Parts: sequence; C-alpha cells; structure tokens
Amino acid sequence: MATYLVTGGAGFIGSHLCRSLAERGERVRALDDLSSGRLGNLEGVLDRVEFIRGDVRDGEVLKGAMQGVDFVLHEAAVASVARSLEEPLEVDRINVEGTLQVLCAARDTGVRRVVFAGSAAAYGDDPTLPKREDMPPKPLSPYAASKLAGEHYCRAFWEVYGLETVVLRYFNVFGPGQDLGSPYSGVISIFLGRLFKGEELVVFGDGEQMRDFVFIEDVVRATLSACEAPGVAGEVFNVGRGEGVTINKLAEVVIEVTGLEGKVRHSPPRPGDVRASVADITRAREQLGYRPEVSLREGLIRTARWFRGGIWRRGLGYSWTGTAL
Ligand SMILES: NC(=O)c1ccc[n+]([C@@H]2O[C@H](COP(=O)([O-])OP(=O)(O)OC[C@H]3O[C@@H](n4cnc5c(N)ncnc54)[C@H](O)[C@@H]3O)[C@@H](O)[C@H]2O)c1
Repeated sequence: MATYLVTGGAGFIGSHLCRSLAERGERVRALDDLSSGRLGNLEGVLDRVEFIRGDVRDGEVLKGAMQGVDFVLHEAAVASVARSLEEPLEVDRINVEGTLQVLCAARDTGVRRVVFAGSAAAYGDDPTLPKREDMPPKPLSPYAASKLAGEHYCRAFWEVYGLETVVLRYFNVFGPGQDLGSPYSGVISIFLGRLFKGEELVVFGDGEQMRDFVFIEDVVRATLSACEAPGVAGEVFNVGRGEGVTINKLAEVVIEVTGLEGKVRHSPPRPGDVRASVADITRAREQLGYRPEVSLREGLIRTARWFRGGIWRRGLGYSWTGTAL
C-alpha cells in the first residue's frame, strides 16, 4: 500500500483520483483550499480520504501534508483560460508559485514521485496535428504560460535535485463531477447545463475549432500509471483520446444523446482560444501502457445521466424534459 497526496483533491479531476485510490485501498490525503472545489465531490469516500484544507502556496502546510507520502498528484490550480485573462498575476501565483512550493516540499520530505497536471494549452496555435510532446510549446494565454512554467520547474527539479517528476498534458477532460454552474467550466459541462435549462448552446466563432475530449476515467488511469511506470521521470506525456471533434459536432452529439431540444447560436471567437487540439498518444501508450477506453458518446451519456441524477438535489433551476438516456 502506498500513500498519495492529491492537491486540488476536492476539484473535478482530483476528487476522481482520490475516489479511485481510496477504492483501491491506498492511503489518500487530499489538500484543497476549496476555492473552486467542493467537499461534496468526495461524498462517499470522505471516511477514507484525509482532507486537509490548505493553500498550495503555503510551504509549511505542504510539508506537513507530505509526511510519509510516496506520490504527489499535483492537480491544484486555477484551471481556466478565461480567469487567467482577467487575473493573470493571481493565476501565476497559484499555478506557478504553488507548483514550485509543491516541488520544494516534495524534495524536502523524500516523496518518490510528483505527477503534474499539465495542459494541452501548452501547444498553443501551431497548426500541426496531432500534437506531439517534442513540438515546441507556444502558449497563447496566461493560463497556458503558467502551466508550461510548472512543467519547466518539474523538469528542472528532476535535473538538479533528482526529484522524480512526470508531466501529463491533459487535453479536454470531461465527466461526472465537473462544475456545471461556473462560466469557467469546460464546454461539455456548459453545454449540458444550458441544455438542461432550456437555453441555447453558444458556440464561439465558426465552431470548426477542434478538441480532443477525454473521459475522466481514462485520465485517472493515465495519472495513476504515471506514478508507477519505470523510467519516465523528467518526461512529458499527452493524455487525450487521440481523436479530434469539432465544437459543432460536439453540440450535435450532446443534443442527440440527451434527447433535449437544443438550438445553437454562434458568437464572436474568444481571445486565447486555440484552433485545433488533438493529441498524439503514442508516447503514453508505449511508456505508460495508456489505452483510452471510453468513447466520446459513451462518456457523454454517462455525464448526462449523472447530471440528470443531480438536478433536483442541486436545485440550480434546471428542468428535465428529455426523452433519451
Ligand atoms: N479539466 C480539464 O479539462 C483540464 C485540462 C488540462 C489540464 N487540467 C489541469 O488539471 C488540474 C485539475 O483541473 P480540474 O478540471 O479538476 O479543475 P478544478 O478547478 O475542478 O480543480 C482544481 C482544484 O484546485 C483547488 N485549488 C485552486 N487553488 C488552490 C490553492 N491555491 N491551494 C489549494 N487548492 C487550490 C480548487 O479548489 C479545486 O478543487 C488543473 O491543474 C488543471 O490545470 C485540467
């Protein structure tokens, strides 16, 4: 049995990691300041997850949380391009300084490996597809720059201190538990939220921008493999499905699987949005044994069912008139 610390453990991805680890019988600690995460995300496993409310910029809290820890899964961040445009300095403090504090504490407490939640945003708008890890990064937004800075620190800590670090560039992660009420959420949860409220789907630009949507369970599998895989310290891996889907197509499939009436409205493109993002997952396949198992359609059905199940309890003013699911 190993001991894991999940920073951002009350967030979308972090809480799935905590749940999966707890269900495997591992020892799990979650550290989160609950700025965007919720304890409700850990419902059902809070008796098996040691929760610490704290900030990743606080080195002393981190050192305490890392006592006896084998693996740190560093998920805590402001995970929003839009917010990074509004508050670039604050996002830098959390995403960059927070990561540096995590790495220093891991170095000082003898952690075996840190797995860092990087982002496909690092690639920026280079038209070459699919994105390979050896392509030069070109961050377009303060968020992307902050995640890339975190990657560079991970690499540097491996080089100079021998702290094992692995960077995972997540593409567009979706699934149950994603925040549906926030304007900063991913496009799938925003689309579901609007559909369930009977509102039209807003597509920025022409809708032909392409994304690689990967279901949360596949992301959890990749992240846990990155803890144990041999010989991967200092490396960067793409974690996507390896398939591109346009936003227009996504809107169509979301409407179809929910069986809800939905209209699409186009509005001007957003600054900082990249045109196309599709992962080459060869490296993760070969070195982490990663195989995405859940299709976009299947993932959407599971996410929509979860959302429908939570509508009444959450009291967000949604209504259910669909016939599918
Ligand atoms: N969701 C995606 O599609 C996606 C894609 C690429 C990368 N990522 C990265 O994956 C990680 C997790 O993303 P998510 O989608 O689960 O986001 P999320 O917002 O649901 O989770 C982030 C968590 O970090 C916590 N947090 C924020 N600031 C903190 C601080 N100063 N101290 C302690 N905790 C803090 C939040 O409360 C939240 O629980 C992030 O690092 C994000 O950049 C996510």
